[in-house]
Amino acid sequence: MYQLKKLGLVTAVSSAAIFAFSSVSAQSSADLVATALNHSDRPAEESADDGRRMPLEVLSFAGIEAGMAVLELEAGGGWYTEVLSRTVGGSGVVVMQNPPAFEGFTGDADDDRAASLPNVTLSTTNFDALEPGDASMDLVTWILGPHELWFMPGGESLGDAGKSFEEIARVLKPGGRFLAVDHHATADAGPEVGGSLHRIGEGVITDYAEDAGLRLVRSSNMHINPEDPMDNGATDPSIRGKTSKFVLLFEK
Ligand SMILES: C[S@@+](CC[C@H](N)C(=O)[O-])C[C@H]1O[C@@H](n2cnc3c(N)ncnc32)[C@H](O)[C@@H]1O
Repeated sequence: MYQLKKLGLVTAVSSAAIFAFSSVSAQSSADLVATALNHSDRPAEESADDGRRMPLEVLSFAGIEAGMAVLELEAGGGWYTEVLSRTVGGSGVVVMQNPPAFEGFTGDADDDRAASLPNVTLSTTNFDALEPGDASMDLVTWILGPHELWFMPGGESLGDAGKSFEEIARVLKPGGRFLAVDHHATADAGPEVGGSLHRIGEGVITDYAEDAGLRLVRSSNMHINPEDPMDNGATDPSIRGKTSKFVLLFEK
Protein backbone atom coordinates (compact mmCIF):
# COMPACT_ATOMS: atom_id res chain seq x y z
CA MET A 1 0.00 0.00 0.00
CA TYR A 2 2.79 2.36 0.97
CA GLN A 3 4.62 1.67 -2.26
CA LEU A 4 1.48 2.17 -4.33
CA LYS A 5 0.84 5.53 -2.69
CA LYS A 6 4.45 6.50 -3.15
CA LEU A 7 4.19 5.73 -6.85
CA GLY A 8 0.99 7.74 -7.10
CA LEU A 9 -0.65 4.98 -9.02
CA VAL A 10 -4.10 4.27 -8.02
CA THR A 11 -7.66 5.33 -8.58
CA ALA A 12 -9.40 3.04 -6.14
CA VAL A 13 -12.18 0.85 -7.40
CA SER A 14 -12.41 -1.10 -4.18
CA SER A 15 -10.57 -0.10 -1.05
CA ALA A 16 -11.10 -3.61 0.26
CA ALA A 17 -9.44 -5.04 -2.82
CA ILE A 18 -6.50 -2.69 -2.45
CA PHE A 19 -6.15 -3.65 1.21
CA ALA A 20 -6.15 -7.30 0.21
CA PHE A 21 -3.30 -6.50 -2.21
CA SER A 22 -0.78 -6.52 0.60
CA SER A 23 2.05 -4.09 1.24
CA VAL A 24 4.51 -6.97 1.18
CA SER A 25 3.74 -8.04 -2.40
CA ALA A 26 3.53 -4.43 -3.68
CA GLN A 27 6.91 -3.58 -2.20
CA SER A 28 8.56 -6.69 -3.55
CA SER A 29 6.95 -6.15 -6.97
CA ALA A 30 8.56 -2.72 -7.32
CA ASP A 31 11.95 -4.00 -6.14
CA LEU A 32 11.83 -6.94 -8.53
CA VAL A 33 10.83 -4.80 -11.50
CA ALA A 34 13.47 -2.17 -10.69
CA THR A 35 16.16 -4.85 -10.65
CA ALA A 36 14.92 -6.20 -14.00
CA LEU A 37 14.89 -2.71 -15.52
CA ASN A 38 18.47 -2.11 -14.41
CA HIS A 39 19.81 -5.41 -15.78
CA SER A 40 23.06 -4.86 -17.68
CA ASP A 41 21.91 -6.96 -20.68
CA ARG A 42 18.89 -4.73 -21.32
CA PRO A 43 19.23 -2.84 -24.63
CA ALA A 44 19.91 0.86 -23.97
CA GLU A 45 17.38 1.94 -26.59
CA GLU A 46 14.69 0.01 -24.70
CA SER A 47 15.63 1.51 -21.31
CA ALA A 48 15.38 4.93 -22.96
CA ASP A 49 11.60 4.42 -23.20
CA ASP A 50 11.06 3.70 -19.50
CA GLY A 51 10.12 7.28 -18.59
CA ARG A 52 7.32 7.29 -21.14
CA ARG A 53 6.15 3.67 -20.81
CA MET A 54 6.43 3.48 -16.99
CA PRO A 55 7.05 -0.28 -16.67
CA LEU A 56 7.93 0.03 -12.98
CA GLU A 57 4.56 1.55 -12.21
CA VAL A 58 2.59 -0.69 -14.62
CA LEU A 59 4.01 -4.00 -13.39
CA SER A 60 3.94 -2.97 -9.72
CA PHE A 61 0.28 -2.06 -10.21
CA ALA A 62 -0.29 -5.61 -11.54
CA GLY A 63 1.36 -7.11 -8.44
CA ILE A 64 3.90 -9.15 -10.36
CA GLU A 65 5.95 -11.53 -8.19
CA ALA A 66 8.96 -13.82 -8.55
CA GLY A 67 8.04 -17.32 -9.68
CA MET A 68 4.85 -16.32 -11.46
CA ALA A 69 3.63 -17.89 -14.71
CA VAL A 70 2.79 -14.97 -17.02
CA LEU A 71 1.00 -14.99 -20.38
CA GLU A 72 1.88 -11.83 -22.30
CA LEU A 73 -0.74 -11.32 -24.99
CA GLU A 74 0.40 -9.49 -28.11
CA ALA A 75 3.99 -9.24 -26.99
CA GLY A 76 5.09 -7.72 -30.32
CA GLY A 77 8.89 -7.65 -30.48
CA GLY A 78 9.15 -8.21 -26.73
CA TRP A 79 9.94 -4.84 -25.14
CA TYR A 80 7.90 -5.88 -22.09
CA THR A 81 8.83 -9.57 -22.40
CA GLU A 82 12.40 -8.91 -21.36
CA VAL A 83 11.28 -7.05 -18.24
CA LEU A 84 8.64 -9.66 -17.36
CA SER A 85 11.17 -12.46 -17.82
CA ARG A 86 13.72 -10.99 -15.41
CA THR A 87 11.05 -9.94 -12.92
CA VAL A 88 9.55 -13.43 -12.51
CA GLY A 89 13.09 -14.87 -12.58
CA GLY A 90 14.35 -18.42 -12.96
CA SER A 91 11.48 -19.95 -11.01
CA GLY A 92 8.91 -18.22 -13.23
CA VAL A 93 7.87 -18.53 -16.86
CA VAL A 94 6.65 -16.13 -19.55
CA VAL A 95 4.63 -17.19 -22.58
CA MET A 96 4.96 -14.43 -25.20
CA GLN A 97 2.01 -14.57 -27.58
CA ASN A 98 1.49 -12.96 -30.97
CA PRO A 99 -1.18 -13.73 -33.58
CA PRO A 100 0.11 -15.34 -36.80
CA ALA A 101 -1.10 -12.34 -38.83
CA PHE A 102 1.50 -10.17 -37.00
CA GLU A 103 4.40 -12.17 -38.43
CA GLY A 104 4.92 -9.46 -41.03
CA PHE A 105 5.14 -6.80 -38.30
CA THR A 106 7.34 -8.66 -35.82
CA GLY A 107 9.66 -10.46 -38.28
CA ASP A 108 12.29 -12.38 -36.28
CA ALA A 109 12.14 -10.01 -33.30
CA ASP A 110 9.80 -12.19 -31.19
CA ASP A 111 11.67 -15.43 -32.08
CA ASP A 112 15.02 -13.80 -31.21
CA ARG A 113 13.69 -12.39 -27.95
CA ALA A 114 12.30 -15.76 -26.82
CA ALA A 115 15.54 -17.50 -27.77
CA SER A 116 17.59 -15.06 -25.69
CA LEU A 117 15.60 -15.50 -22.44
CA PRO A 118 15.62 -19.00 -20.87
CA ASN A 119 12.22 -18.76 -19.16
CA VAL A 120 10.36 -17.42 -22.24
CA THR A 121 8.49 -19.43 -24.87
CA LEU A 122 6.82 -18.00 -27.97
CA SER A 123 3.20 -18.89 -28.73
CA THR A 124 1.80 -17.93 -32.13
CA THR A 125 -2.00 -18.16 -31.98
CA ASN A 126 -5.05 -16.00 -32.40
CA PHE A 127 -6.40 -14.39 -29.23
CA ASP A 128 -9.34 -16.80 -29.04
CA ALA A 129 -7.22 -19.97 -29.17
CA LEU A 130 -4.64 -19.55 -26.42
CA GLU A 131 -2.12 -22.33 -25.82
CA PRO A 132 -1.68 -22.43 -22.01
CA GLY A 133 -3.67 -25.03 -20.09
CA ASP A 134 -6.68 -24.37 -17.91
CA ALA A 135 -5.90 -22.49 -14.67
CA SER A 136 -2.15 -22.43 -15.41
CA MET A 137 -1.33 -18.69 -15.34
CA ASP A 138 -0.89 -16.29 -12.41
CA LEU A 139 -0.99 -13.18 -14.60
CA VAL A 140 -2.15 -12.37 -18.13
CA THR A 141 -1.03 -9.02 -19.57
CA TRP A 142 -2.40 -7.29 -22.67
CA ILE A 143 -0.52 -4.04 -23.10
CA LEU A 144 -1.55 -1.69 -25.93
CA GLY A 145 -3.52 -4.45 -27.62
CA PRO A 146 -7.12 -5.33 -26.66
CA HIS A 147 -8.35 -3.02 -29.45
CA GLU A 148 -6.84 -5.49 -31.98
CA LEU A 149 -9.92 -7.69 -31.52
CA TRP A 150 -11.62 -5.26 -33.92
CA PHE A 151 -8.57 -4.96 -36.24
CA MET A 152 -8.73 -7.13 -39.37
CA PRO A 153 -5.29 -7.16 -41.05
CA GLY A 154 -5.73 -8.53 -44.56
CA GLY A 155 -9.46 -8.90 -43.78
CA GLU A 156 -8.79 -11.62 -41.16
CA SER A 157 -10.00 -11.58 -37.58
CA LEU A 158 -7.38 -11.99 -34.86
CA GLY A 159 -9.97 -13.63 -32.62
CA ASP A 160 -13.61 -13.41 -31.63
CA ALA A 161 -13.88 -10.85 -28.82
CA GLY A 162 -16.14 -12.81 -26.45
CA LYS A 163 -14.21 -16.04 -26.95
CA SER A 164 -10.88 -14.27 -26.42
CA PHE A 165 -11.93 -13.00 -22.99
CA GLU A 166 -13.26 -16.48 -22.14
CA GLU A 167 -9.82 -17.81 -23.05
CA ILE A 168 -8.13 -15.30 -20.73
CA ALA A 169 -10.42 -16.42 -17.90
CA ARG A 170 -9.80 -20.08 -18.75
CA VAL A 171 -6.00 -19.93 -18.55
CA LEU A 172 -5.95 -17.91 -15.29
CA LYS A 173 -5.64 -19.68 -11.95
CA PRO A 174 -8.38 -18.82 -9.46
CA GLY A 175 -7.25 -15.49 -8.00
CA GLY A 176 -5.04 -14.85 -11.04
CA ARG A 177 -4.93 -11.32 -12.48
CA PHE A 178 -5.50 -9.81 -15.92
CA LEU A 179 -3.79 -6.50 -16.72
CA ALA A 180 -5.29 -4.51 -19.63
CA VAL A 181 -3.68 -1.32 -20.98
CA ASP A 182 -4.91 0.42 -24.12
CA HIS A 183 -5.36 3.73 -25.92
CA HIS A 184 -8.53 5.55 -24.81
CA ALA A 185 -11.35 6.13 -27.29
CA THR A 186 -14.01 8.78 -26.74
CA ALA A 187 -16.93 7.79 -24.50
CA ASP A 188 -19.37 7.54 -27.43
CA ALA A 189 -17.11 5.49 -29.72
CA GLY A 190 -18.14 1.96 -30.63
CA PRO A 191 -15.73 -0.98 -30.57
CA GLU A 192 -15.15 -0.65 -34.34
CA VAL A 193 -12.67 2.17 -33.63
CA GLY A 194 -10.34 -0.61 -32.42
CA GLY A 195 -9.78 -1.46 -36.07
CA SER A 196 -9.71 2.08 -37.45
CA LEU A 197 -8.13 4.29 -34.74
CA HIS A 198 -6.40 1.52 -32.73
CA ARG A 199 -8.19 2.82 -29.65
CA ILE A 200 -10.94 1.27 -27.52
CA GLY A 201 -13.36 2.38 -24.83
CA GLU A 202 -12.43 1.36 -21.31
CA GLY A 203 -16.04 0.31 -20.75
CA VAL A 204 -15.97 -2.06 -23.73
CA ILE A 205 -13.04 -3.96 -22.25
CA THR A 206 -14.53 -3.98 -18.75
CA ASP A 207 -17.83 -5.36 -20.10
CA TYR A 208 -16.12 -8.19 -22.00
CA ALA A 209 -13.90 -9.08 -19.04
CA GLU A 210 -16.83 -9.10 -16.62
CA ASP A 211 -18.96 -11.15 -19.02
CA ALA A 212 -16.12 -13.72 -18.98
CA GLY A 213 -16.27 -13.89 -15.19
CA LEU A 214 -13.43 -11.54 -14.26
CA ARG A 215 -13.85 -8.87 -11.58
CA LEU A 216 -12.40 -5.36 -11.89
CA VAL A 217 -10.06 -4.90 -8.91
CA ARG A 218 -8.73 -1.43 -9.61
CA SER A 219 -7.68 1.10 -12.24
CA SER A 220 -4.91 3.66 -12.52
CA ASN A 221 -4.68 7.13 -14.02
CA MET A 222 -0.93 6.83 -14.52
CA HIS A 223 -1.24 7.03 -18.32
CA ILE A 224 -3.95 9.72 -18.58
CA ASN A 225 -3.16 12.58 -20.98
CA PRO A 226 -5.85 15.30 -20.92
CA GLU A 227 -4.35 16.77 -24.12
CA ASP A 228 -5.29 13.68 -26.15
CA PRO A 229 -8.43 14.36 -28.28
CA MET A 230 -8.99 10.57 -28.36
CA ASP A 231 -10.73 10.77 -31.77
CA ASN A 232 -7.67 10.41 -33.96
CA GLY A 233 -5.52 7.40 -34.75
CA ALA A 234 -3.30 6.24 -31.88
CA THR A 235 -0.35 6.30 -34.29
CA ASP A 236 -1.14 9.76 -35.70
CA PRO A 237 2.14 11.72 -35.50
CA SER A 238 0.42 14.38 -33.40
CA ILE A 239 -0.26 11.93 -30.57
CA ARG A 240 1.89 8.83 -31.14
CA GLY A 241 3.65 7.87 -27.91
CA LYS A 242 1.56 10.32 -25.89
CA THR A 243 -1.94 8.85 -26.09
CA SER A 244 -4.15 8.78 -23.04
CA LYS A 245 -4.40 5.18 -21.86
CA PHE A 246 -6.45 3.20 -19.37
CA VAL A 247 -4.77 0.74 -17.03
CA LEU A 248 -7.09 -1.89 -15.53
CA LEU A 249 -6.55 -4.89 -13.28
CA PHE A 250 -9.05 -7.76 -13.14
CA GLU A 251 -9.11 -10.88 -11.01
CA LYS A 252 -10.51 -14.35 -11.66
C1 LIG B 1 1.12 -1.90 -30.05
S1 LIG B 1 2.41 -3.06 -30.11
C2 LIG B 1 2.34 -3.70 -28.50
C3 LIG B 1 3.43 -4.68 -28.24
C4 LIG B 1 3.67 -4.95 -26.78
N1 LIG B 1 2.48 -5.38 -26.09
C5 LIG B 1 4.25 -3.72 -26.11
O1 LIG B 1 3.55 -3.08 -25.32
O2 LIG B 1 5.40 -3.40 -26.39
C6 LIG B 1 1.73 -4.25 -31.12
C7 LIG B 1 2.68 -5.01 -32.00
O3 LIG B 1 1.90 -5.51 -33.07
C8 LIG B 1 2.50 -5.26 -34.30
N2 LIG B 1 1.58 -4.41 -35.08
C9 LIG B 1 0.25 -4.48 -35.01
N3 LIG B 1 -0.32 -3.67 -35.88
C10 LIG B 1 0.64 -3.02 -36.51
C11 LIG B 1 0.67 -2.02 -37.52
N4 LIG B 1 -0.44 -1.51 -38.06
N5 LIG B 1 1.86 -1.58 -37.90
C12 LIG B 1 2.98 -2.07 -37.39
N6 LIG B 1 3.01 -3.02 -36.44
C13 LIG B 1 1.86 -3.49 -35.99
C14 LIG B 1 3.86 -4.73 -34.00
O4 LIG B 1 4.72 -5.84 -34.07
C15 LIG B 1 3.78 -4.23 -32.59
O5 LIG B 1 4.95 -4.51 -31.88
